[in-house]
Amino acid sequence: MEILIRDYAEAGCLLGAKIIARVVREKPDAVLGLATGRTPLRLYQELIRMHRDEGLDFSRVMTFNLDEYVGLPATHDQSYRYFMRENLFRHINIDLTRTHVPDGTAPDLHAECRSYEKKIEAAGGIDLQLLGLGRNGHIGFNEPTGSLRSRTWVKILSEQTLKDNSAVFGSLAAMPKHALTMGIGTILDARRILLLAFGPAKVRAVEHMVEGPLAAICPGSALQLHPRATVILDENSAAGLHYADHYRWIDSQKLPWQRYE
Ligand code: GLP
Repeated sequence: MEILIRDYAEAGCLLGAKIIARVVREKPDAVLGLATGRTPLRLYQELIRMHRDEGLDFSRVMTFNLDEYVGLPATHDQSYRYFMRENLFRHINIDLTRTHVPDGTAPDLHAECRSYEKKIEAAGGIDLQLLGLGRNGHIGFNEPTGSLRSRTWVKILSEQTLKDNSAVFGSLAAMPKHALTMGIGTILDARRILLLAFGPAKVRAVEHMVEGPLAAICPGSALQLHPRATVILDENSAAGLHYADHYRWIDSQKLPWQRYE
């Protein structure tokens, strides 16, 4: 796991955008796995800026989002399809037919999950999967104790996640309690993983993910198994790490071709 600690989330997001932009420049038809939530918003703004000011070209890029709430149509302002359109897709030159978000309104959700996996496979797999981290260590909507080898499926949201995400729905009652999500096995199949976690609320989850045992109780810890996982933190989210100085040292000694900035 490559751990990159920056002073503030702002710098972390700019760094994350640089990493993604490099993937797209090196492989114009890259397959990107995308995430929602508050964490990647600034990163998406930076990708939009790079598209506008530097001509970063998304015309051949294909995307697969991690997850979607069950029952929310694409027109619902809290659906992840809506989120992606508003916060990224409509500001860049991506072909919307090449963007994928699981359909939470599909009449047969299990068939939708199976077909999502097949679409990822048919696209040649995901080149880079972007992730946030739940306060309880979840990735996508893979909640604690879910199988570390799970595939895209219907998951029940934990009470912690409902609490964390319900504000934007106005009330807990209005929030879906189920979601379709790529499984942890699906996520680990990506050729590269980029996880962002910022702020004091993520301290415990980050500590367990990076330095704790590999355990289903912290789904993010599955990244320890991945050969090419990069984790970008700010000082707040990194505050519980015992080996932060070691990560900083490694970061400072990189060879020129290993650096992103
Ligand atoms: C959400 C999403 C995750 C996201 C996480 C953290 O529920 N399903 O993909 O990474 O929770 O959200 P935030 O970035 O808003 O803290």
